[in-house]
Amino acid sequence: MDKEKELQKIKEEVSVCDKCILSKTRTNTVPGEGNPDAEVLFIGEAPGENEDKKGIPFCGAAGKFLDEMLGKIGFDREDVFIANTLKCRPPGNRDPEDEEKNACLFYLKRQLKIIDPKLIVLMGRHAATTYLPGAGGISKLHGKPMRRPNGYIYLPLYHPAAALHNGGLRETLVDDFNKIPIILKKINSISDQKHNQDKSNQKDVNKQLKLI
Ligand code: URA
Ligand code: SF4
Repeated sequence: MDKEKELQKIKEEVSVCDKCILSKTRTNTVPGEGNPDAEVLFIGEAPGENEDKKGIPFCGAAGKFLDEMLGKIGFDREDVFIANTLKCRPPGNRDPEDEEKNACLFYLKRQLKIIDPKLIVLMGRHAATTYLPGAGGISKLHGKPMRRPNGYIYLPLYHPAAALHNGGLRETLVDDFNKIPIILKKINSISDQKHNQDKSNQKDVNKQLKLI
């Protein structure tokens, strides 16, 4: 099956999913969308009111800010893939429960495997703690790419919704966001080196990923 079809199959499964209680209160599922061959996968927290109404991730104020930041680094939404730790809106935008995140990871893990991005950008503490358990809080992790034993490289960032109305966080988020093209370049050069040399271990890769 090609990537597009595999992603479509997940979308269809999600649309009728009742693995957690959010299925009872959602209007629409928000499976995530974008380029099946994206180099960068963005993972947010959960759909909000606008997303629940439209079934589209990041289509409200935080999404507009995300689009702006993408534009500044030369990306369109169509170039990347955008998803969330949860595919259904928690009522009143309450925090996701662990039970819900664990149930919903089943889909995101499969999307990740299909897309196989070079970089996974984790937006906000929910995405960061879900994918980097035990690594620390977002205030320590933000802006630093790290490679995990599963081979994937993650970049935790502050959440655009949290940064939108907070000048200091906003500046930090924009600075961190602007590192994405530099990180991608590094990743490409590391994988070229790997091609030519012996296998580098995780520590070496993390050392090479250290920016500026
Ligand atoms: N916030 C998120 O985390 N995800 C969305 O899709 C919208 C807002
Ligand atoms: Fe299913 Fe995820 Fe929606 Fe829960 S949040 S009902 S696990 S799709």
